[in-house]
Amino acid sequence: MRMRAAVLEEFGEPLVVQDLELKDPRAGEVLVRLVACGVCHTDLYTASGIDPSGYAPVVLGHEGAGVVERVGEGVASLREGDHVVTLFSPQCGECVHCVDPRTNLCMAIRAEQNLGHLPDGTTRLARSDSGEEIRHFMGTSTFAEYTVMPEIALAKIDPEAPLDRACLFACGLSTGLGAAMNTAAVREGATCVVFGAGMVGLGAVAGCRLQGAERIICVDLSDDRLELARGQGATELMKADDNTVERILETTDGGYGADYTFEATGNVAVMAQAVETARMAWGLCTVAGVAGRGETLDVIPRWLITGRRIAGSSFGGVKGRDGVPKLVDLYMRGEIDVDPFISHRITLQEVNRGFDLMEAQDGIRSVIEFH
Ligand SMILES: NC(=O)c1ccc[n+]([C@@H]2O[C@H](COP(=O)([O-])OP(=O)(O)OC[C@H]3O[C@@H](n4cnc5c(N)ncnc54)[C@H](O)[C@@H]3O)[C@@H](O)[C@H]2O)c1
Ligand SMILES: [Zn+2]
Ligand SMILES: [Zn+2]
Repeated sequence: MRMRAAVLEEFGEPLVVQDLELKDPRAGEVLVRLVACGVCHTDLYTASGIDPSGYAPVVLGHEGAGVVERVGEGVASLREGDHVVTLFSPQCGECVHCVDPRTNLCMAIRAEQNLGHLPDGTTRLARSDSGEEIRHFMGTSTFAEYTVMPEIALAKIDPEAPLDRACLFACGLSTGLGAAMNTAAVREGATCVVFGAGMVGLGAVAGCRLQGAERIICVDLSDDRLELARGQGATELMKADDNTVERILETTDGGYGADYTFEATGNVAVMAQAVETARMAWGLCTVAGVAGRGETLDVIPRWLITGRRIAGSSFGGVKGRDGVPKLVDLYMRGEIDVDPFISHRITLQEVNRGFDLMEAQDGIRSVIEFH
């Protein structure tokens, strides 16, 4: 079929919205009509050419939500009309990691996904004129009117959930919520510090609140973002400066630090601050930010010997097919306030404006709406 899609033709250049050919779903695959898609830093990171594993031409986008249009042979868990959120982190349910509750890192299609292919090693995207193949991005390619994705990478959600909100659960929001709810599994009454109040940090603030944390200190450089953190349940706001660590230690348990800290900036110096401000004896620092290639985290071993721990969290440890529908249900019950995250609504044609807004740190998320 013919459809509109935003193609990264050349690194560092604006995406080019054009007609592409999308081939039929094969066995185990599903054709999804996208209704909404968030614009995320990871898309921009790849478009800029900084990402060493990036490739072009490719259709970017990974924060999609839409409606199943058609299913390929053997697809049993989804049918036409189902509402779905796209998962860059699939859940096959059978691999060594999927059957273990300790992780969400499904191994089923990783290698081909990283190459820009669907699981059978081919692509469904091609130029309408020359037939030249275009690769998929993160197994999702949701900057497009339609996508073909593996069944195992689609989470079926409540059909009542508005898809322009649900799309945010495809990446940053679930990452933050899950960091607090799964990876750290914050205890009731705990003291938490969240570094960074972007989509991920704000999700972590909401996750700490849902877990019953007593104090949630949010640290950021921007007053506007700190205000958003208050709306998500932060009990204290702190503008970051050269003395952030000292200020946090002063206010937490007589200098011991916080029960849980979360890093959601991608800055390795902030990661070190998050480790240092985790409480002596049992403090757990959860790192969600993605550092630049080659950067390392500088940790004084004494911080660890004296009981602090560090955990990393990919997609918040959420097993997507099971976990995302549950998070969407929490939203539907009014327990997560998603609207403040949507700062701009744009069309697919305006996708590059979404990148500009993100670079200007104007709002949290631009959401592309498909009509
Ligand atoms: N682990 C995962 O699966 C996953 C998923 C999505 C995003 N991420 C990563 O999470 C990080 C956050 O993503 P985001 O979309 O929220 O980004 P964002 O850029 O919107 O937010 C980052 C925030 O950190 C703040 N910040 C910068 N320096 C700071 C400092 N010194 N002290 C305190 N705050 C500071 C910024 O003001 C900003 O509000 C990124 O590194 C992103 O790549 C990880
Ligand atoms: Zn993302
Ligand atoms: Zn798996």
